[in-house]
Amino acid sequence: MVYIDSVKAREVFDSRGNPTVEVDVILSDGTLGRAAVPSGASTGELEAVELRDGGERLAGKGVLKAVNNVNTEINQALHGLDPMNQGHVDATMIRLDGTPNKGRLGANAILGVSMATARAAANYQHVPLYRYLGGTDLELPQTFHNVINGGEHANNDIDFQEFMITPVKRQNFREGFEKIVDTYHTLKQLLDKEGHSTALGDEGGFAPNLKNSEEAFQLLRKAIIAAGYQPGEEIAIAFDAAASYFYDKDSGKYNLEGHSYTPDELGDYYGQLLDRYPEIISIEDPYSEDDWTNFEKFTKRYGKRVQIVADDPVCTNPELVRKAIKGGLGNAILIKLNQIGTVTETLETIRLARKNGYTTMMSHRSGETADTFVADFTVATNAAELKAGAPARSERVAKYNQLLRIEEELGADSSRLAYFPNDVDLD
Ligand code: PGA
Ligand code: ZN
Repeated sequence: MVYIDSVKAREVFDSRGNPTVEVDVILSDGTLGRAAVPSGASTGELEAVELRDGGERLAGKGVLKAVNNVNTEINQALHGLDPMNQGHVDATMIRLDGTPNKGRLGANAILGVSMATARAAANYQHVPLYRYLGGTDLELPQTFHNVINGGEHANNDIDFQEFMITPVKRQNFREGFEKIVDTYHTLKQLLDKEGHSTALGDEGGFAPNLKNSEEAFQLLRKAIIAAGYQPGEEIAIAFDAAASYFYDKDSGKYNLEGHSYTPDELGDYYGQLLDRYPEIISIEDPYSEDDWTNFEKFTKRYGKRVQIVADDPVCTNPELVRKAIKGGLGNAILIKLNQIGTVTETLETIRLARKNGYTTMMSHRSGETADTFVADFTVATNAAELKAGAPARSERVAKYNQLLRIEEELGADSSRLAYFPNDVDLD
């Protein structure tokens, strides 16, 4: 029987020029599985620990400690294990680490090995990763494209972090993606015409110095129409407020673009945005990760009208997701492999969300590599939704190109009329 012969990590660099971990898992028959770990900028406080070296080298961001942990302790612990038993491989690393947040060995070390193990197993079976992880029940996701970057992802004055466009109704993934590409190019022309910068932020979206978030919504609507599409009918809008970053813990207020809102006033403001821009169909992190009460209150108020995605409060952590579901926080869960640190625990979180009627939105990180694991993982888990940045910059487009390949491989079966998010035309 085939077994894991060795695991080997190295320090490589991500799309922001920061060090990250790449891992090779080598099986006893010589099969190789390789994966690279992404990295966030607007990280939740309860995310699993990304182990960085500190000190002077590479501004303290080196990952040689994590690399060394893979090459020594993890390598020893995994030698001889069955690569097809992902649960056992991941549990072995969790036990070896021994901390609740993977802080000793590093979630970046553990996740790199976890993903590379799945790849090695898929390669051994000569099947694509999405097929190995997902079997035959496979679906292309609705994709959300961050085309205007603010918050921690750009140095402009916009406080909301991500302004996304998404194809609402489509025959297949390619058709929807082409509409996004059209809208992206039209937005660039529009920004240029109105005298704004067309420089790009971390996720490939534009980072113009707009007055406020509302101006971003206006521009998106204009771009959708100018590209020849109907806002809300063909292309809809979503945003990630990433409100932890404009929340003032001491006063309990939200300082947003020159206004200081109480939590209720912020809710009113979101309500006004929804009235003025009915093409907004999804809001992520409208309240801070420290403000569950108001996040829950907001969900009660608007959860029937719009998708409300929880990211920072739950950090892909099954325990936190359990708590969120119990309290009615959000109606969708953002899924990021590196927030929790193993493939197995991420699958548990997805299962938990789905059982309780929560939609799952898979996500890249603002620091990415050319690795397309997340695209295969989204299709394999029928996650329903994926956000992976603008249709620009290779580390973002790589994910969408992989979806195009997967759709081609799946053929006509995957090409069917889909209404999002429920496959039911609710109108
Ligand atoms: P990050 O941002 O990858 O920089 O953490 C993504 C998000 O907040 O959804
Ligand atoms: Zn977020």
